[in-house]
Amino acid sequence: KRVVLIGVPTQAGTHQKGCLMGPDALRTAGIAEAIRELGHCVEDWGNLAPASQGDLQHANRAIHDLGETVGWIEAAAEAGTRAVGDGLFPVFLGGDHSMSAGTVAGVARAAKASGRPQFVLWLDAHSDFHTPDTTTSGNLHGTPLAYVTGMPGFAGVFPDLEARVDPANVAMIGIRSVDPAERAALRQHRVEVHDMRRVDQHGMSSLLLGFIERVKAANGLLHVSLDVDFLDPVVAPAVGTTVPGGATFREAHLVMELISDSGLMASLDVAELNPFLDERGKTARLMVDLVASLFGRSVMDRPTISY
Ligand code: ARG
Ligand code: MN
Ligand code: MN
Ligand code: MN
Repeated sequence: KRVVLIGVPTQAGTHQKGCLMGPDALRTAGIAEAIRELGHCVEDWGNLAPASQGDLQHANRAIHDLGETVGWIEAAAEAGTRAVGDGLFPVFLGGDHSMSAGTVAGVARAAKASGRPQFVLWLDAHSDFHTPDTTTSGNLHGTPLAYVTGMPGFAGVFPDLEARVDPANVAMIGIRSVDPAERAALRQHRVEVHDMRRVDQHGMSSLLLGFIERVKAANGLLHVSLDVDFLDPVVAPAVGTTVPGGATFREAHLVMELISDSGLMASLDVAELNPFLDERGKTARLMVDLVASLFGRSVMDRPTISY
């Protein structure tokens, strides 16, 4: 693969400071070298800068830093579309999760041009399915998935979408914190939500393989959005929104290995790393190891069966 690293050091989508250091912490932990070691070409476009929007206001007074967030969304979408158009595999280095409003919009626009359906796998403790009208925290990192799936409430707030992702083409795994308004919208739109209770009961592999089969059957392009808090805070403390009961070290690796085997992933976000909260780089290193698993690292040979 020809991989391009794209830093999106936004922290405008959260009240907690520190995500602006995320891309550089991932670089420091050796993300380029880890992917290159697996035989891929890696280039690095450095960090994006937000298109300046000034100070936008919204009727929901809880919302903060809207203008800057919109600026990051536009910059990330632009870079994503360009990367895919150049035949590159974008790895977006966050940055809080509001970046994915841009990254997913950008790759979905490129997918539409190629005529293949866009699928999204959301690996997160949170569903990030608020609209600007329903968020009570005002933190826009809680909204990207609602935006890219075309939920109402974003018109005139975030940029107009050129290609929306069908909510039926989204699956979430790792979920354990959902607000009431999000729950209602997720049910209404029948989004495939695998909360941790389902992970406990059925196991990561059966849940994930079901989704992968759907992507494969549709000849879809798969975007993977990996929030640090998908993981249990014991193994991944460097995130502002820790929730207990997350994926274990091995569960997370298994997810990455299964995605890698599928060969379907076309773009990736690593979101929400807050190096200010890390312990001697352990979370940054874990995220790099997970990315390496996504790009084909395995202890022994690859499995001989494919699915
Ligand atoms: N649902 C909560 C909110 O809207 C938490 C969102 C956390 N999202 C994230 N990307 N960490 O504030
Ligand atoms: Mn606020
Ligand atoms: Mn998230
Ligand atoms: Mn989260």
